[in-house]
Amino acid sequence: MPNYHFFLLFFSSFSFICCSFNKHGGGVPLPSLGMAQNTTIVHVGLVLDLESLAGKRSHASISMALDDFYASHPSYKTRLLIHSRDSKQNIIHAASAALDLLKNFQVQVILGPLTSPQAVFITDLGNEIQVPIVSFSVTSPSISPENTPYFVRTTVNDSSQVGAISSLVKSFNWREVVLVYENTEYGSGIILYLVDAFQEIVARVPYRSVISPSVNDDQLNEELYKLMTMQTRVFVVHMRSSLTSRLFLKAKEIGLMEEGYVWIMTDGIGNMIDSLDPRSIDAMQGVVAVRSYVPRSQTIANFTTRWKARFRQENPSSKPADPSVFELWAYDTVWALAMATEKARVSNSSFRKLPGGDNSTDLGNLGISQNGPELLEALLSTRFRGLNGEFHLVNGQQQSSVFEIVNVIGKGARQIAFWTPEFKISKQFNSTSPANLKTIIWPGDTITVSKGWEIPTNGKRLKIGVPVKKGFNEFVKVVHDNTTNRPTVTGYCIDVFDAIMQSLPYAVPYDYLPFEKPGKNYTDLVFQVFLQKYDAVVGDVTIISNRSNYIDFTLPYTESGVSMIALVKENKRRNMWIFVKPLTTNLWLGTLSFFFFTGCIVWLIEHRINPEFRGPPSQQLGIIFYFAFSTLVFAHRERLQSNLSRVVVVIWVFVVLILTSSYTASLTSMLTVQQLQPTVTDLTEILKNGEHIGYQDGSFVVDILKRIGFKDHQMMNYSTREEYKEALIKGSANGGVAAIFDEIPYLKLFLSKYCTNFTMAGKTYKTDGFGFVFPLGSPISRDVSRAILSVTESDMMVAIERKWFGDMTSCPSDSSKL
Ligand SMILES: *[C@@H]1O[C@H](CO)[C@@H](O)[C@H](O)[C@H]1NC(C)=O
Ligand SMILES: *[C@@H]1O[C@H](CO)[C@@H](O)[C@H](O)[C@H]1NC(C)=O
Ligand SMILES: *[C@@H]1O[C@H](CO)[C@@H](O)[C@H](O)[C@H]1NC(C)=O
Ligand SMILES: *[C@@H]1O[C@H](CO)[C@@H](O)[C@H](O)[C@H]1NC(C)=O
Ligand SMILES: *[C@@H]1O[C@H](CO)[C@@H](O)[C@H](O)[C@H]1NC(C)=O
Ligand SMILES: *[C@@H]1O[C@H](CO)[C@@H](O)[C@H](O)[C@H]1NC(C)=O
Ligand SMILES: *[C@@H]1O[C@H](CO)[C@@H](O)[C@H](O)[C@H]1NC(C)=O
Ligand SMILES: *[C@@H]1O[C@H](CO)[C@@H](O)[C@H](O)[C@H]1NC(C)=O
Ligand SMILES: *[C@@H]1O[C@H](CO)[C@@H](O)[C@H](O)[C@H]1NC(C)=O
Ligand SMILES: *[C@@H]1O[C@H](CO)[C@@H](O)[C@H](O)[C@H]1NC(C)=O
Ligand SMILES: *[C@@H]1O[C@H](CO)[C@@H](O)[C@H](O)[C@H]1NC(C)=O
Repeated sequence: MPNYHFFLLFFSSFSFICCSFNKHGGGVPLPSLGMAQNTTIVHVGLVLDLESLAGKRSHASISMALDDFYASHPSYKTRLLIHSRDSKQNIIHAASAALDLLKNFQVQVILGPLTSPQAVFITDLGNEIQVPIVSFSVTSPSISPENTPYFVRTTVNDSSQVGAISSLVKSFNWREVVLVYENTEYGSGIILYLVDAFQEIVARVPYRSVISPSVNDDQLNEELYKLMTMQTRVFVVHMRSSLTSRLFLKAKEIGLMEEGYVWIMTDGIGNMIDSLDPRSIDAMQGVVAVRSYVPRSQTIANFTTRWKARFRQENPSSKPADPSVFELWAYDTVWALAMATEKARVSNSSFRKLPGGDNSTDLGNLGISQNGPELLEALLSTRFRGLNGEFHLVNGQQQSSVFEIVNVIGKGARQIAFWTPEFKISKQFNSTSPANLKTIIWPGDTITVSKGWEIPTNGKRLKIGVPVKKGFNEFVKVVHDNTTNRPTVTGYCIDVFDAIMQSLPYAVPYDYLPFEKPGKNYTDLVFQVFLQKYDAVVGDVTIISNRSNYIDFTLPYTESGVSMIALVKENKRRNMWIFVKPLTTNLWLGTLSFFFFTGCIVWLIEHRINPEFRGPPSQQLGIIFYFAFSTLVFAHRERLQSNLSRVVVVIWVFVVLILTSSYTASLTSMLTVQQLQPTVTDLTEILKNGEHIGYQDGSFVVDILKRIGFKDHQMMNYSTREEYKEALIKGSANGGVAAIFDEIPYLKLFLSKYCTNFTMAGKTYKTDGFGFVFPLGSPISRDVSRAILSVTESDMMVAIERKWFGDMTSCPSDSSKL
């Protein structure tokens, strides 16, 4: 931190004026009661914003603690003498006050400062000259005893509460959180921890609203309007109380404190709720806050009464609210310090100059505190039961205690639940009783839990784009209703979407808006969501990677794939003459002539010796034919007498046997083989033949065709089933197409109507099916995806399919024609 050298140079010339001014101005040494003659005075510096309410309240605690402590420990040999300085809510004044105290009083310890930004310089200074800086209100984790060991934090750091906030967000299932914090050391210290905690519960932080402590009303308004236009409705506020009050007054004014909004405050304000003015409390109705839990005990009640009296005594003009946890910590801190100085046996010896040290600056002149190490050691090991539970420092800071989650209702805060690191959120801070919180009244005076986001539109109804299709209206059908002058949208996709929106745990109102632009394809429609013309697109939109660069798809709700349909090969075999098909005409003729020939040979050989082959010529002709044919079924009755004719017949019967068995086999295969053979079997076949191919107008499948290598003139677009049919029947040669390439849901629908003459062919290209389109990162898309799973697994999907597509398997088969 090179700036500090500059700082120090500046102060060496400045502090003289400061201290002479301070001597009659701010600091009055606080008296210590019952001081014995030979007690050692220990000078302690106190840097506080004495004019601020928080400063006055802390001062009352500190002076009371001193009195109480030495009243109950009169034998102590050390006495704390406190020199207080006003830091005037200003970093420079705080730094100069610290330097002044060190230089002119050689204080052994500095108590304070009140705020984290003021502490940055002072802790580094204390570390350099080994003077413990003990703060009961510097909570920013970016100022940590780890880096500056002489800084002692007698309070819990801000990062201890992030678990409580993330548990709260998780228990309501909010997925996005906007952080609103002040642009100071205090504000930004917690942010990394919060973001990490949200990451752990898979909540996103889409935006961080950083507000300068010196923001004016216009800038604050502008920032709040910006929050209003965003879809996230859960805000975590981390800033000091004065800025918070302004923020909520403005937020209420412009309508950010209505139903649907969720505001969570960190303990910085949570601890102070009771001391806020009624106007601010009024503006914060419904806010949920985290704060340190202080058990309601008799001791606290006693302290409260006495503290209020002390406060009134010190500030007669103002009326005190109950002490917050900071006042308890301030009280305990003074006790701890008094015990530690006694334990460390602090002598009155002061600062030791470093040999050879630079004596041209204030810091060089100060040297280092000789009591510092022992005092620090004693303070870190001090343990006692204080007002606010066990005082026990680990690694220089108080350990995280129990947090309570409160809801601002009426005039103050109502406890909702506890949070501890081990039990998380519970009703009892020491048990794991089920985490159902008490009812929270949210902003807008409602008990309905916000879903945590809202589509930022004016009427708050989702504008849903739907494609206007000429064909395949089973998916989406847009009809312009003349009577109401509004489009009526129906169809399978619409029914599925309606069913899914019904099943969401919250109501989302929406309107369908037809997207009717001739020449625009589905990619253009989807792009409208990216351009924020629509909040979503519902229709037969296929999930493809190119589109998902701009928008979010939900999970698919239909099966997927791209394939083609073609005409079935003309089936001439399927008629009464099918039985002649197994043999060709020549074979039939040859077979017939061999029947005749064999008959003749056998007759020639037999008729000379066999009376059965004799008789009138007509009789003999009959025998010639009949004998040959009867061999076909091996039923010839004529007994052959010549061995020669027997040889002929045996050979012939063998030939007939082979002929009949191959005929039977051939006919059987003809009757049982797959009947529906497409005319084309592959896209490459069409490409090679230079034939035409069809696709659906506007569909992305044209990209696949182009990738395969089809030229523009080869691709024809169609919109309806009838056009598909006509084009296929015409064929590529007559101005039609050889096949139609499209997504399987359409092809199935087509085939359910025209199944006899067409069939699916070729391989299936994988796509992801139809999905709904939402803007990138939209929280609703996640919920819709989850709902799609539950709807597609239910019977509802089957019912919707049947309603629109009928029974797609019931194609009137013509197998009965055989
Ligand atoms: C003060 O010191 C003297 C010796 O130096 C001792 O006798 C006396 O008891 C001490 N007084 C107190 C109140 O401790
Ligand atoms: C507080 O407690 C002290 C004793 O511990 C008692 O003397 C005092 O009267 C109590 N004050 C009140 C207001 O109860
Ligand atoms: C320290 O105390 C002794 C008496 O106990 C006194 O003589 C001496 O001057 C004191 N030193 C300082 C620096 O105050
Ligand atoms: C600074 O120290 C040097 C010796 O180290 C000495 O000569 C000089 O007088 C000192 N200056 C002051 C202002 O003490
Ligand atoms: C904050 O406090 C917690 C314990 O309450 C501790 O574990 C953590 O290290 C502290 N963080 C910093 C930065 O000091
Ligand atoms: C939790 O604390 C309450 C008192 O605050 C006590 O009555 C109860 O028994 C405790 N429960 C457990 C499980 O320790
Ligand atoms: C609506 O009006 C158009 C012409 O504007 C007409 O063609 C159509 O038939 C009408 N439809 C109904 C349902 O009346
Ligand atoms: C995606 O778009 C690019 C050009 O915008 C195109 O070259 C590519 O083929 C497309 N990919 C798919 C799968 O459509
Ligand atoms: C859709 O139309 C746009 C122009 O409007 C064009 O760039 C894009 O290639 C088309 N996509 C398809 C799949 O036809
Ligand atoms: C579809 O065909 C029509 C003519 O039938 C033509 O005007 C239109 O431009 C074609 N669309 C595409 C995307 O090629
Ligand atoms: C199938 O095609 C033939 C002509 O090829 C036609 O006669 C018949 O009607 C068609 N069948 C159907 C259901 O379209």
